Amino acid sequence: MVNVGRIDLRSDTVTRPTPEMRRVIAEAEVGDDMFGEDPTINRLEQRVAEMLGKEAAVYACSGIQSNQMALRAHCSSGDEILLDGSSHIFYYEQGAPAALHGVTCRLIDGEGGIFRADQLEGMIHGHDQHESITKVVCVENTTNRGGGRPWPLQAFCEVADWAHARHLAVHVDGARLFNACQAAGYSPREFCEFADTVSICFSKGLGCPMGSMLVGSRPMMARARRARKLFGGGIRQGGMMAASALYALEHNVERLKDDHAHARWLAEKIARIPQLSIDLKAVATNIVIIEIAQEWGTADRFVELLQREGVLVLAFGRQKIRLCTHLDIPGDCLPRVVEAFQTVAASSYD
Ligand SMILES: Cc1ncc(COP(=O)(O)O)c(C=O)c1O
Repeated sequence: MVNVGRIDLRSDTVTRPTPEMRRVIAEAEVGDDMFGEDPTINRLEQRVAEMLGKEAAVYACSGIQSNQMALRAHCSSGDEILLDGSSHIFYYEQGAPAALHGVTCRLIDGEGGIFRADQLEGMIHGHDQHESITKVVCVENTTNRGGGRPWPLQAFCEVADWAHARHLAVHVDGARLFNACQAAGYSPREFCEFADTVSICFSKGLGCPMGSMLVGSRPMMARARRARKLFGGGIRQGGMMAASALYALEHNVERLKDDHAHARWLAEKIARIPQLSIDLKAVATNIVIIEIAQEWGTADRFVELLQREGVLVLAFGRQKIRLCTHLDIPGDCLPRVVEAFQTVAASSYD
């Protein structure tokens, strides 16, 4: 179902379930998941664990819940995690590592959210009684604030090897892991082999109304399941939503390449507009970051004027905006998006 009139590129979370997905939701077999009796959730957990090559999986309400279940499972109060300064866990989760678990974040200065193993040298704490104890390295794939970049497998492998050699765990926030796989050419299983826990989201590029999944070893998932309950995430007859995820894994993974092609097409056209610039090398999946010239004005104003043209995007800092392609954006509406950008860029700032 496509929004008539406005084109919503704010996020890949704005998609609405198709009639076919709604049918699957309505017909889902369900039970009480707190008794382990929801057959559809059980099937989804098994399917995803297998797909990502891990022993066990836990269905979660959201990506944040799933990331925080992982951190709860890995860490104790007073521990520390290493992660890029632009990562969702640090930037957009209300300080949850500190708020929920008493865990501090030590930030790495990567490029577009991607860092190298050698940048981690000297960052481990815990040998001295004054220090917090470093427990986890977190990687985000694709990087959201980094513009949807997929991690190269080799770079991730080096980071994970470095971490494991120092007895640290590796957690992947794979909210858009399937986008990364599609763009970088590795399978989910190949990438996840080097991680201890991985969180994926069904509510983004895969087009489900809600839901995420955490995978890892059986003991870690038992801990994560307890954390989910603590965070109010016991989901009872959640099989209806799990059914949407099973449907999405079947029908909406391959097509992510269309979203990537749409983002690329838009990026190349918008990059030619005076007042706007885009690092085209960084556009690899469904996210495009656009920089607005200072002399034009601010991102907030640009977003407001674009909205009047029927195109919705997000301000991503004072001079940057983000657009995100998805399932509800058909190729034939893209020229209208470019026209809207041209109109707004050509208008004077008042
Ligand atoms: C990289 C990343 N991780 C985690 C999340 C959190 O997902 P949710 O909104 O389902 O909590 C998002 C949301 O956009 C995200 O982009």
